[in-house]
Amino acid sequence: MPIHRLEKIWLTFGIAMLAVFLAVLGIGAFAMGMEPPGSHGTHAVDPVTVSSEPPFDTPGLVQIGENEYNAYVLAFAFGFSPVDMEVPRGARVHFYITSQDVVHGFSIPRTTVNLMAVPGEINHMTYTFDKPGEYLVLCNEYCGISHEQMATRIVVK
Ligand code: CUA
Repeated sequence: MPIHRLEKIWLTFGIAMLAVFLAVLGIGAFAMGMEPPGSHGTHAVDPVTVSSEPPFDTPGLVQIGENEYNAYVLAFAFGFSPVDMEVPRGARVHFYITSQDVVHGFSIPRTTVNLMAVPGEINHMTYTFDKPGEYLVLCNEYCGISHEQMATRIVVK
């Protein structure tokens, strides 16, 4: 029967297209998981428990070298933890940023540091503070009513 055959062809075609679509989606999601745009290395984390487990249970600076630090920063509505950080001039700082709730930003004007704080992810970026001074850290992702007030400081001595 010609109609029956036509249906079979369309059904086969449909299933094939669905398989292709799912494969593309899967590859896309996998590629994004490996390296999302605008970040440098991402690890999965549980946003509900992240603030009670190391290293984010004690956010802040951890010295790992002569003038080298890991900086673990938690973003939340509407602030950052820790509030302020202080490093010596020339410090090489590896930032590790995550969010407890919604997507925030972690941007330091006058530097190349511009990370997204995403719940469930730890985004990483390294920066060397050659110039002393006070660096403002801003949330540059709209996150709610007090988005404009969401800021902290890094002091380089
Ligand atoms: Cu947090 Cu805008």
